[in-house]
Amino acid sequence: MTVPPTDRTATEPGPVPPPGCPAHLATGAGGVTRLHGAAAETDPMGLYEKLRAAHGPVAPVLLEGDVRAWLVLGYLENRDVATRSTQFSRDPRTWHGWTSGEIDPETSPLVPMIGWRPDCVCADGEEHQRLRGAVTASLNQFDQRGVRRHITRFAHQLIDDFCESGKAELVGQFTEPLPMLVLTHLLGMSDEDGPKLVHAARDLFKATETSLASNAYVLETLKQLVAAKRAVPGPDIASVLMAHPAGLSDEEVQHHLRLILLAGYETTANLMANVLRMTVTDPRFRGSLAGGQMTLPEAVEQVLWDEPPLMVCPGRWATGDTSLGGQEIKAGDMLLLGLAAGNVDQAVRQDPSTRVHHNRAHLSFSAGAHECPGQDIGRVIADTGIDILLTRLPDIGLAIAESGLSWRSSTWARHLTALPVKFASRAPEAAHALPAPLPAPPPPSAGMPAAPRTPAAPHVPPGRETASRMPLAEARVSWRTRLRRLLGLGQVP
Ligand code: HEM
Repeated sequence: MTVPPTDRTATEPGPVPPPGCPAHLATGAGGVTRLHGAAAETDPMGLYEKLRAAHGPVAPVLLEGDVRAWLVLGYLENRDVATRSTQFSRDPRTWHGWTSGEIDPETSPLVPMIGWRPDCVCADGEEHQRLRGAVTASLNQFDQRGVRRHITRFAHQLIDDFCESGKAELVGQFTEPLPMLVLTHLLGMSDEDGPKLVHAARDLFKATETSLASNAYVLETLKQLVAAKRAVPGPDIASVLMAHPAGLSDEEVQHHLRLILLAGYETTANLMANVLRMTVTDPRFRGSLAGGQMTLPEAVEQVLWDEPPLMVCPGRWATGDTSLGGQEIKAGDMLLLGLAAGNVDQAVRQDPSTRVHHNRAHLSFSAGAHECPGQDIGRVIADTGIDILLTRLPDIGLAIAESGLSWRSSTWARHLTALPVKFASRAPEAAHALPAPLPAPPPPSAGMPAAPRTPAAPHVPPGRETASRMPLAEARVSWRTRLRRLLGLGQVP
């Protein structure tokens, strides 16, 4: 890779920091900005904007171990790279770093993210189509209602575990376990295996010295699943992958299960945490939700624009010399899709603080041949899980000052470490047939017609199947109505 002249790579032109200053840590050889470390972790969006100001839509950056890459910041340039697969390969074996000695494949924490594996992410063309065909068939076997039923069951179980205490830590008790429980169930694993994998999957993304061991743990668990499903197939992702005419080997099946688990878990957990954080910290956001100006799916889409669960997507490798966004890219160079940076590019969003309204053209699921095939499942987990939480705990509020919230970041993603909330204590639904009686509604505000009273929910059997107990559309009206009352906003228009 050609590293541009030093004067163009310095992120912050101006005085050179004195030796020992932490600012030194933000840049490596040639003054190239590091996409890891303190600056990248505390304010990744700020860092992307500095890079954009210094380099335009494509910037040279350094990854862990000072491995060189190009970060694509422009919206159009991201689409360009993601959709021109003959020019930008998804196969990491085309990277020159493997042979130049730039990385130690035995020890580098980057390997789980950028190393080659026998899965569809690392394939192009016909091979990609063969593998992806099996993945989409395995995901498409579930209709939305079927998936929703599992989400509903797990969401109620999780809420039952903390609703009596009047407080919860939503990241650890809801947004992380819910997608993991749903995904491990869809994969064909027992419910007990889900929680065990949470730690390993998170660790893998952090690119720490334990990432390689966590990767090995995830693969071993999935290997056991493949063996079990060979013996007794079921209506699950693992069994459909094995039976698909694409003829996946056991190793390929195992790697696709890993891919689905990792691609789906971290991203969906981050998305849910971000939506819930907005709900409890931003009165405008919550007011729009409560007032019906924004539906929950629209709120989820807004967060996908503003805070993509995967901020930087690894990676693409140039198949030949080319130019992109004013930079000369050489054959074998590594490019990273800057999904978060692209989503706020002025070329598509003049004012990132304004609402996007029904626009799904964000980059959060990427684009082109590798565009996320699980996005509907991710959306339905987020929509349904949050809907149930807000229905059952409409008075939920942040339990600490907003300034006390903290994030953990890696080069690829940023997630909230904890979301402590409080609410009025409630009995678990299994023990309580009916929701607590609601306070009398205030008189309708001027111009707002009164909503019909929500009928009382019928008796809930211990199975807690919300789908049969309260249809989702009704549930949505119900939490909105209750939230509006708590906010003193009158009835739902
Ligand atoms: C909000 C949740 C999610 C987000 C933001 C997300 C985002 C992404 C992104 C950015 C990619 C990379 C595409 C590329 O390399 O260009 C991807 C790929 C992928 N995602 Fe998702 N994803 C989500 C949920 C899921 C779920 C729930 C599943 C499975 C059930 C899933 C399965 C996959 C697979 C299999 C790929 C690889 C596709 C390929 O290479 O052809 N994702 N996702």
